[in-house]
Amino acid sequence: MKDETKCLHSGYTPANGEPRVLPIVQSTTYVYDSAAEVAAIFDDPTKGLCYSRFGNPTVMAVETKIAELEGGVGAMCTTSGQAATLLSILNICSAGDSIVSLPTIYGGTINLFSFTLKKLGIECIYVDPSSSDEEIKSAFKENTKLVFGETIANPALKVLDIQRFADIAHEMGVPMIVDNTFATPILCKPFEFGADIIIHSTSKYMDGHAIQIGGVIVDSGKFDWTNGKFPELTEPDESYHGISYTKSYGNMAYIIKARMQLMRDFGVYPAAHSAFLLNLGLETLPVRMKQYCENALAVAEYLEKSDMVESVSYPALKSSPDYELANKYLKGCSGVISFIIKGGRPAAAKFMDALKLASNEVHVADIRTCVLHPASETHRQLTDEQLAAAGIEAGMIRFSVGLEKIDDIIEDLDNALKSIGK
Ligand SMILES: Cc1ncc(COP(=O)(O)O)c(C=O)c1O
Repeated sequence: MKDETKCLHSGYTPANGEPRVLPIVQSTTYVYDSAAEVAAIFDDPTKGLCYSRFGNPTVMAVETKIAELEGGVGAMCTTSGQAATLLSILNICSAGDSIVSLPTIYGGTINLFSFTLKKLGIECIYVDPSSSDEEIKSAFKENTKLVFGETIANPALKVLDIQRFADIAHEMGVPMIVDNTFATPILCKPFEFGADIIIHSTSKYMDGHAIQIGGVIVDSGKFDWTNGKFPELTEPDESYHGISYTKSYGNMAYIIKARMQLMRDFGVYPAAHSAFLLNLGLETLPVRMKQYCENALAVAEYLEKSDMVESVSYPALKSSPDYELANKYLKGCSGVISFIIKGGRPAAAKFMDALKLASNEVHVADIRTCVLHPASETHRQLTDEQLAAAGIEAGMIRFSVGLEKIDDIIEDLDNALKSIGK
């Protein structure tokens, strides 16, 4: 099945006389005829539904659709992208372990890795992608359990060399986890380049309409967890009557453990209604992604020519240092652009206030064009010097191009840029 067809049809296939649209099964629990049937599900939760903290038919239909889109063996939805990132790591790391990550990742993920995981006893070692393979390998320790990166980094818009980092991870005996939020499986399929686990904030393009926060973890089913580094997957789980996930579930060990153990204990499973809304977003994902990319490229080309703009970051631009990587990994570079306005913080603030169509909000990847000025909003507590250290210039704007008519978006930008000099 082609991606476009999967977006419309997989996950839920109605039988004769059943609803055409994915039904919302808004129930916390499921009924059985005998105690023995319930006991059998407790013995092997993959045999049926017992409680909506572990699984729900509406959510599971969406999980199937996303797993098929990414080319994985299984998926598990979560209540946010943050929860997906956290569980994807806790599923194979405990106190005393370390992880290796690219530094060009979402700010919330940096907080999670640098502060909260640290408190849990998990160390994050950041590696510079411009280092040699040998330098990167020297960051690994005996206790390193995974490598983490983002396909298109938010907000730096750097493209991840997935194959290179997956090869290094595999040589070091650990999996590569990729946050594929900005690309979505429509623009990039990280499993085809060696990634082992994918996570998404579905709050972004997958939902697309800014109506619900969510996340998902997808398992490629390809990583060999029996290499001696992952006893939590191979040895008996005493919290689950001595089950060995690899022995019982083979290539679905990782994703089933995440559900049976971590979802049971952390309880961050989405409601059926949220999954229903996410499914609506997924149904139009291929057409929306194509249009975001077209609109964003036109905006990036316009900005590159403007006298008011110092520089533009968008990997689809020929001038971008990531142009080659984008050609290798991406079928488009999404709708998110960042650019630096001449005149620093005051000019950026003036520009932001003059925009009429683009809305000022803490969000990206929406059908409506939205814009954020990190220096006066998300990072307002930092001085210009501290901003520079964090890689954010005072005049930097993150612009998330929506699906409005391109002429209208450019007219809005043009008027706002012209207003700076007035
Ligand atoms: C790339 C990326 N990953 C993860 C997250 C976290 O997702 P959520 O806000 O759904 O928790 C975000 C949020 O902006 C993001 O941009």
